[in-house]
Amino acid sequence: MTTTRQREADILSTARATEFTPMAETPRYGGAKASIDPDRSKTWLRRALPIMSAHKGIFITSLVLSFVGLVLQVQIPELLNKAITNSLEAHTVSLSVYVWWILALGLVGGVAGYISRLFLFKTAYGIEYDLRTLIYEHLTKMSFSFYDRVQSGQLISRANSDIRSVQMYMTFAPLILVQCSIAVVAFCYMLSISVPLALVAMVTMPFVFLVGVKMRKTMFPVSWIIQARLADVATIVDENVNGVRVVRSFAAEDDQLNSLAKAATRLQWSYIKDADLRAKWSPVIQNLPQLGLALVLLFGGYMVIQGSLGIGAILAFNAYLLMLQAPFMMLGMLIMMGQRAAASAERIYEIMDEQPTITERPGAVDLLECRGQVDFNHVDFAYGEDGPLVLEDFDLHMAPGETVALVGRTGSGKSTVARLLARFYDTTAGTLAIDGHDVRDLTLDSLRANVGIVLDEAFLFSVSVADNIAYGRPDAERADIEAAARAAGAHGFISELSEGYDTVVGERGYTLSGGQRQRIAIARTLLVNPPILVLDDATSAIDVQVEQQIHGALRVLMEGRTTLIVAHRLSTIALSDRVVLLDSGRIVADGTHAELLASSPLYGEVLAQVEDEAVLEEEEEEEGLH
Ligand SMILES: Nc1ncnc2c1ncn2[C@@H]1O[C@H](COP(=O)(O)OP(=O)(O)O)[C@@H](O)[C@H]1O
Ligand SMILES: [Mg+2]
Repeated sequence: MTTTRQREADILSTARATEFTPMAETPRYGGAKASIDPDRSKTWLRRALPIMSAHKGIFITSLVLSFVGLVLQVQIPELLNKAITNSLEAHTVSLSVYVWWILALGLVGGVAGYISRLFLFKTAYGIEYDLRTLIYEHLTKMSFSFYDRVQSGQLISRANSDIRSVQMYMTFAPLILVQCSIAVVAFCYMLSISVPLALVAMVTMPFVFLVGVKMRKTMFPVSWIIQARLADVATIVDENVNGVRVVRSFAAEDDQLNSLAKAATRLQWSYIKDADLRAKWSPVIQNLPQLGLALVLLFGGYMVIQGSLGIGAILAFNAYLLMLQAPFMMLGMLIMMGQRAAASAERIYEIMDEQPTITERPGAVDLLECRGQVDFNHVDFAYGEDGPLVLEDFDLHMAPGETVALVGRTGSGKSTVARLLARFYDTTAGTLAIDGHDVRDLTLDSLRANVGIVLDEAFLFSVSVADNIAYGRPDAERADIEAAARAAGAHGFISELSEGYDTVVGERGYTLSGGQRQRIAIARTLLVNPPILVLDDATSAIDVQVEQQIHGALRVLMEGRTTLIVAHRLSTIALSDRVVLLDSGRIVADGTHAELLASSPLYGEVLAQVEDEAVLEEEEEEEGLH
């Protein structure tokens, strides 16, 4: 037994690096082409400008081609006018000349339109990609205090619908503006045919604009509410899916349905309100130009009867007005898109403007050849700025290779100590040093590569067991993965899974029991083979016999490794050189198990309590397995 253990330890210890190489893979994705302007005083569009200009090559080509296509299109009513006047009325030019011209223009316009659209969508999805990677990169940098506050449903909705609406506006707004500019060209043609008739035709257009502005004012708040309520619904769905076991066990499905129905009704109300406003405004915007058409027929017809205008001119005017109608209608759409995009952009910037609180200072050094000396120097800690002190004057020093058991009641701050050690949070007062270096002077990658932490919640990814274990060392060989699994007491049950190490774990690892997940999580950390190991309640769901096997392996593995174990059971405490008793964030006793038992009444009390808890947990675990 000991010899196999020794071999496991050997395999694992070959992995210990003397030189720091980042454990994460080098990014293979192309990052975002540009970033958002950090200057908060600028408008949202100006802040997004760097991203747009990163794509300006194909974007401007697309807009130019779109303009060319429209210019060609504008020629057609003029040709029609000439065809009627010269070929049908005066018979001076052959009709086929005009037919060929119109066909040729249509063909060239079509090709220009195709390339323009292709480039436009390339730009649109390029911008979307950039925004998405920017947000995700930013989220990977955010500190735990941020995730303590933010709801994941909100984040998901921001990463999807908000990005889409900003992207749409950024690419389609300039296109619509180009199309509106063609309205100016069309208007010039109208003027060249007949100044009075052109003015009559345009009489309704200022109203279209004014109505658009009015609509913008009424619809803006509603579009904001819609986005917020969509995120509310996403949050409830997200919690229901993740918390489905709790919901079922309390038979609280109806309650949950009620709260979802409430959120859905609120969302429905805002959508209907939006549709109502849209239904009121759209017909006005759409039909105002028709009024212009009627006016053209009235005045133009009168002029034809008078003999001051040809019939072809009326036809041309008709075509121009239809051409004008589209941009003006789109102008209304542009206004609506703008409202939505502004709301979305605000919400995206809210995340982007939030700075990570845990950052590497400039000139941070790598933690190399870590010996594993850990010094908490009079540490005070509070979650959040005005939260209560969770740790107070916490002063703990661990020599290289020492194993310390951290014992204390629930809520006494044990997990908090573990989180500080991996610098998930920074101390409020006092310092934490590893090998004499303040952790704030070390690069985060090297610190976390040297501090292996097994959290109380064993989160597994929806990939194979082997990939889960190799998460921190994706290049690990199967033999190393198996050695780590053996050491964590996981090899046995993994071999019995239908596809062994290649079995894909369900979302959050729910097809495995709590104890099995914990063992995979332990193997995952052991494989990285960190010189400093933190086990935060890592064996709480593992039954006593299996835990003893793991302890056997750990005893070998812990040699030469500084280990902090949040302990619940006497058997775990027995592994340690020293026990530290924590009460309300303060160290109240520090010594060997025997010393503490003799000197601290609280220690006996807490042990009795945790033993009771442990027994209860074992019973639960057994029930869970049957
Ligand atoms: N993310 C958090 N935000 C705010 N308070 C927290 C957070 N995590 C833990 N706490 C609080 O800190 C105290 C210590 O928690 P913790 O370190 O998890 O205790 P233990 O692991 O000993 O059970 C508790 O009062 C708990 O409510
Ligand atoms: Mg805890």
